This record gives sequence, structure tokens and C-alpha cells, in this order.
Amino acid sequence: MTFDDQAPLFDQRAGVTKDAARSVGQAVHRLASLKKGDLLLEIGAGTGEIGEHLASSGVKYFGLDLSLLMLREFAKRVPAKRKSGAISLIQGDGDDIWPVEKGTIRAVFMSRAVHLLEGRHVLRETKRIARPDGAFLVLGRVRRPDECVRSDMRREMRRLLSAEGVEGRDSTKQIRKLCQDLIVRGGRFVCEENQVATWKVKETPLQSLNSWREKTGLAGKPVSAGVKQKVLTSLEAWAEEKYGSLEKETPSEDMYELTVIEFGAS
Ligand SMILES: C[S@@+](CC[C@H](N)C(=O)[O-])C[C@H]1O[C@@H](n2cnc3c(N)ncnc32)[C@H](O)[C@@H]1O
Repeated sequence: MTFDDQAPLFDQRAGVTKDAARSVGQAVHRLASLKKGDLLLEIGAGTGEIGEHLASSGVKYFGLDLSLLMLREFAKRVPAKRKSGAISLIQGDGDDIWPVEKGTIRAVFMSRAVHLLEGRHVLRETKRIARPDGAFLVLGRVRRPDECVRSDMRREMRRLLSAEGVEGRDSTKQIRKLCQDLIVRGGRFVCEENQVATWKVKETPLQSLNSWREKTGLAGKPVSAGVKQKVLTSLEAWAEEKYGSLEKETPSEDMYELTVIEFGAS
């Protein structure tokens, strides 16, 4: 399933709550010290659940995404802000040159997207478009407790995948590497993995299984249909044994974390 396929149901399946999205938007403004007239670029803007809250208090927002259908969902929720020019949506590949002039952007934001891009390119483009008098890289992600159904399912899925000779991609490592690369070039952490929103969820083992069945690959890696089937069949048996039923609902809490780096200021 590509992001184009996921677009109509993305918010329902993977979205954060409205309150959480608003809190994340406010935290980005606060932590990146955004002011009227500042420009912010989001790479991998998606359906704009968070992005719509970034274009406020006179900050102009540019959202770039590879998926036209994700951007269409975004466009539907912000007609007035697009008309006024507060929000511009651009279809493009974040692994190409970003369509923004050198030295103009106050903040680059990526939410649940940095692991989908080439790290050195992100670093190069961030530095190129950043304002010379100071800019911010803001990286957001959803984190789950170590002990919850989805974390357990994810660990077991990765263990089974590893037994098939495939090591899953580690987005935490990729985020930390990108931050480190900016820090050694003179950046400084404004905050690291700061929790800025939480919300209640109910999770079942079946939800995890279904979401992996629908996606291409597993754990961010391409895998053959045979390996995928083998891993998910074993996982299903493991989950049935552990939870008694694949549809057993367990309450949990999701968190949204921000890491912010300031760089370029003299
Ligand atoms: C998991 S979604 C996150 C969407 C949004 N940032 C959020 O947190 O709700 C990842 C987004 O990155 C986009 N994406 C994936 N690869 C991309 C690329 N090479 N260039 C630009 N966008 C990309 C996808 O189309 C998708 O909208």
C-alpha cells in the first residue's frame, strides 16, 4: 500500500487526535521561536493534520509531499489558509532539491517522515535553505510505551523478521544520526525527544497485523511475499497464544515527541 492508497483513511488509521495536533503545532512554534513573517517548510506534510496548525500567527507554511493524494486530503481541510497564501502545498520528492530559495527558511519540520528520506540530502538541503541569522530543524514522531500491545507486536514481528535474515529499519537511529550531523556542524539541541502531547488509544493485536498486511514490505524493508506471509502467520499464532484473542482491546497512551536543533545563528 503506497501513501496514495492510504490517503483517504490515513488520519483514521494513523492520525493523532485533534487536541494533540494542535498541541504539537503550538509546541513547534514555541520551541522554534517562530515569529510573524517566518517561513516554515514541512517535508512529508501528508494530510496536514499537524501542518494546518503551523500556519498561524503570521508564519507562512510550505508543505512538500511526494503523494498527490495525501496533499489533496491536506488541501480539503485548509481552503481559506491556501487562498490567503498562509499555506502552500507542493507535490515533489524530498530526495530532490527542495523548491525553496537559499537562506529563506526559519524552520524545517518533519513529522514521521525523516526515515523515508536520504539523511545526507536532508542535511544538505536543510543547511542550504536555512536563514543565515538562525534556523531550526524540528523532528517529530509518535512514541508508544515499551509495554503495550503494539510495541510487543512490533518487537515480535522484528524478531521473526530477523530470523529470516532481514533487519528492520531503525528510525530512531536515523533521527539521532541526522541530529548528530547537525550538532558537529555547530548546531545545538533546543530539546531532545520532548513529549509535547499524549492521547488515549485502544489497541488490538489484529490492528497491528492488518496494518502490516496492507503495507508493502515490513519494518521499512522490502521483503518477498513468502517471507512476509511466514512472519505474519507466525506472529498471528504468537499473538493468539499471548492475548487469547486477536480482537482483545487494551487501553494505552500514545505520545508525540519533538526534537529541535537550532543552527546557523552567529
Ligand atoms: C507517515 S506519513 C506522515 C505525514 C505527516 N507528516 C504526519 O505526521 O501526519 C509520511 C509522509 O511522507 C511522505 N513521503 C514519503 N516519501 C517522501 C519523499 N521522498 N518526499 C516527500 N514526501 C515523502 C508520504 O507521502 C507521507 O505523506
